[in-house]
Amino acid sequence: DRSIKIAPSILAADFANFGAECEAIEAQGADWVHVDVMDGHFVPNITFGPATCAAIRPHIKGVMDVHLMIAPVDPYIEAFAKAGADVITAHAEATPHIHRTLQAIRGAGAKAGVALNPGTPASAVAELLDMVDLICVMTVNPGFGGQKFIDMTAKIRELRALIGDRPVHIEIDGGVDPKTAPLVAQAGADVLVAGSAVFKGGSVSDPAPYGENIRAI
Ligand code: DX5
Ligand code: ZN
Repeated sequence: DRSIKIAPSILAADFANFGAECEAIEAQGADWVHVDVMDGHFVPNITFGPATCAAIRPHIKGVMDVHLMIAPVDPYIEAFAKAGADVITAHAEATPHIHRTLQAIRGAGAKAGVALNPGTPASAVAELLDMVDLICVMTVNPGFGGQKFIDMTAKIRELRALIGDRPVHIEIDGGVDPKTAPLVAQAGADVLVAGSAVFKGGSVSDPAPYGENIRAI
């Protein structure tokens, strides 16, 4: 029996208050903090980079889970590792050399994750299983919070079978809420990213809804 971790995405937090938001979600029961880095090139939106990650790091006691939606990715891995990322996830679609990218992430001292867009099959990671700590299955096309969940349960099952008894997390990102969470958990996911479903109704001055939302997932 696998325990489910909830990783709120600060993409849905108050961008002027990241430190306080990270402290609030951890106090309300978040397991990991998910940090969405977007470049306006690999995805059609821009968020922030390694300097912001370094600034929020002291406000996170647990795992800082950095999701890089950027291309190229290799030139920035060292900077995100130095910023204190515990997990660095790169997209399989963002580089022709994802194997090299994953080597670089582990080489920089972080746990390595590979993310798959909805259009990318499970087989894309078949040769990478011993070099990853996490596989992120996107259940939206990345770029924005608050999008509709795309059912990827067949892919999740396929990945669990490929992973076998290796210690690899399956993380789900996009449209996770109390309705979709049980579907992906049942299929074999163990880390659930949630942005809008966690932050809705709360704020740093009224954080209790964050806790209620986390427990509802
Ligand atoms: C999507 C990001 C997600 C996003 C999830 O591009 O990678 O982490 O913030 O947001 P929700 O939970 O609102 O779909
Ligand atoms: Zn993400």
